[in-house]
Amino acid sequence: MTRDDGVVLQDVCKSFSGAAGSVDVLRGVSIKLAGGEAAAITGPSGSGKSTLLHLLGGLDRPTSGSITIHGRRPADMTPRELSRFRNRTIGFVFQDHHLLPQYSVLENVLLPTYALGRPAAAAQGRATGLLEDVGMGHRLHHRPAELSGGERQRTAVARALMNGPRLLLCDEPTGSLDSANAEAVGQLLLDMHRREGNILVVVTHNPNLAARFRRRFQLVEGRCSAA
Ligand SMILES: Nc1ncnc2c1ncn2[C@@H]1O[C@H](COP(=O)(O)OP(=O)(O)OP(=O)(O)O)[C@@H](O)[C@H]1O
Ligand SMILES: [Mg+2]
Repeated sequence: MTRDDGVVLQDVCKSFSGAAGSVDVLRGVSIKLAGGEAAAITGPSGSGKSTLLHLLGGLDRPTSGSITIHGRRPADMTPRELSRFRNRTIGFVFQDHHLLPQYSVLENVLLPTYALGRPAAAAQGRATGLLEDVGMGHRLHHRPAELSGGERQRTAVARALMNGPRLLLCDEPTGSLDSANAEAVGQLLLDMHRREGNILVVVTHNPNLAARFRRRFQLVEGRCSAA
């Protein structure tokens, strides 16, 4: 592990203000993850889990405090630097797959590579390989609407891994699946995490999934503690 290889949140606060007033969602969250670590984040609905994941993924900025990802601070980047950084360094898996309905499974997995300008043949090879790894090798040319929920989510995992992100963020990745598929997708995330050596952060309401992570955190009323 190099010195910069990790994720550090220091006293991160996030408030939202709108017509209805101001809400303090995160009230001083500090977390340190070393390269290659996997962490589960649990907590009641509304406790700020998705907000925290958005901050980690550079989709939003903290109100105060700092976030460092592999030695870099997304909050200091220009929009252009940030989108490049996100595309290369961070993968996302959401509760609802977010696949584009008009594209095939293979095309959906290839999408993140377009901005990188990599040679098409190499990208095709990696996409096909990843889809085989997640058990979707037989569905390359199907559209998302033709897949089961578990298959869509496995495709979303392949897409998130496509650019070899060093940080993979998952928000309720098994939340819309039945227990057998939830188990399979949870196992897949952990297997791929071990193989790719990335940092994996999974927000989950599923206690069986959370129990399989070495690092566990609980968010309650905007504060975070080891669980
Ligand atoms: N853009 C926003 N503007 C105002 N308030 C927001 C915004 N985004 C989130 N919130 C508020 O922040 C709080 C935390 O929301 P968040 O989505 O992070 O919760 P969560 O822990 O992910 O919940 P769930 O388990 O239901 O997904 C909620 O009270 C929500 O209303
Ligand atoms: Mg949420």
